[in-house]
Amino acid sequence: MKSIRDFSLSGKRVLLRVDFNVPMDEQNQITDDNRVTMVLPTIRYILQEKGKLILCSHMGRPKGKRVEALSLAPVADHLQSLLGVKVTLAPDCVGEEVMALVAKMAAGEVLLLENLRFHLEETANDPGFSEQLAKLADVYINDAFAASHRAHASVVGVAELVAEKGAGFLLQTEMDYFRKSMTEPIRPLVAVIGGAKVSSKLGALENMLAKVDRMIIGGAMANTFLKSMGVEVGASKVEDDLLETAKRFVEAADTKGIKLHLPVDFVVADRFAEDAVTKTVTFRDIPSGWMALDIGPASTILFQEALQDAGTIIWNGPMGAFEIDAFARGTMALCRTVAASHALSIVGGGDSNAAVKKSGEEKNISYMSTGGGAFLELMEGKVLPGVAVLDR
Ligand code: 3PG
Repeated sequence: MKSIRDFSLSGKRVLLRVDFNVPMDEQNQITDDNRVTMVLPTIRYILQEKGKLILCSHMGRPKGKRVEALSLAPVADHLQSLLGVKVTLAPDCVGEEVMALVAKMAAGEVLLLENLRFHLEETANDPGFSEQLAKLADVYINDAFAASHRAHASVVGVAELVAEKGAGFLLQTEMDYFRKSMTEPIRPLVAVIGGAKVSSKLGALENMLAKVDRMIIGGAMANTFLKSMGVEVGASKVEDDLLETAKRFVEAADTKGIKLHLPVDFVVADRFAEDAVTKTVTFRDIPSGWMALDIGPASTILFQEALQDAGTIIWNGPMGAFEIDAFARGTMALCRTVAASHALSIVGGGDSNAAVKKSGEEKNISYMSTGGGAFLELMEGKVLPGVAVLDR
């Protein structure tokens, strides 16, 4: 895979695929600009090398329709204030008006194309649409790690058509941390996997089992594992159709000699609400009608012990419903443990990143991935199409 540094950019039209799919509130204000700030080094490099910078991104899932609330206008304004350089928002991402805007660009100028997903052809990886994008580029750079699991036109189709193509600094950094943590980890390698559903993490659980020395499972998905072992979990969230799968997974870990750490106690509540009645119970004492919403103090200590001598930690998914303070203690304690560890620590996924932010420990994590689905697909052992195409 070539790097952006391998190309001469001076005077060239550089089409940079970024992931500006940032969270916004009801007033269309960006609530977390991490995905914008993380690509600033690539953007600044292109401008410093006197390229003509054409940025493209998706935002949300407008399904081929022009949805004003999903316009990239707020991102254009924000990027302009971060860069101190004028950022022009194009009225669309393809078409004659866009071609004309690109044709009159001077070196060092920045044009942000409007949301790619206003066209159905983007997600369909339509050849004609890819061609229209390719016409805007002398050099194509992918710095959209978080969208690189999508075989879409701006990620794959266009890259097949532009001869000079490579990775931006963010994509390189993400893939580098992935290599360090999964391909050549310092051992013991410990995976912490949490979140609501076994179903959405099954691929990652199975692939990671072949790689890790230990695995910690928390969050609501732990309930399915415990129930598969005959534990009564009350009104806790469970995926009953996956009980057999969960059971087989526990057996497979046992056969492989991989230590699987499941919660031994919980904070349970009579309902899922901020003002719910809560208590701490062992896994054997979850009252019927109550739900497990956080790991308890004994589980926290066990999990902390399992992380003690880790050389590498990969974390995806919270330990409980941390967005409510009453159920945040377990996840927050683990954030502090991972942050204090000497291990190389990689955290990925929207919820886990939000949890680390809530704990205030972001600076002490080795790397916080910008990827959600893309990070998970790497954990599943998949090759990201947006990365593979850069090698073709
Ligand atoms: C993400 O937020 O994970 C990426 O921007 C990809 O978005 P998508 O799941 O809508 O393709």
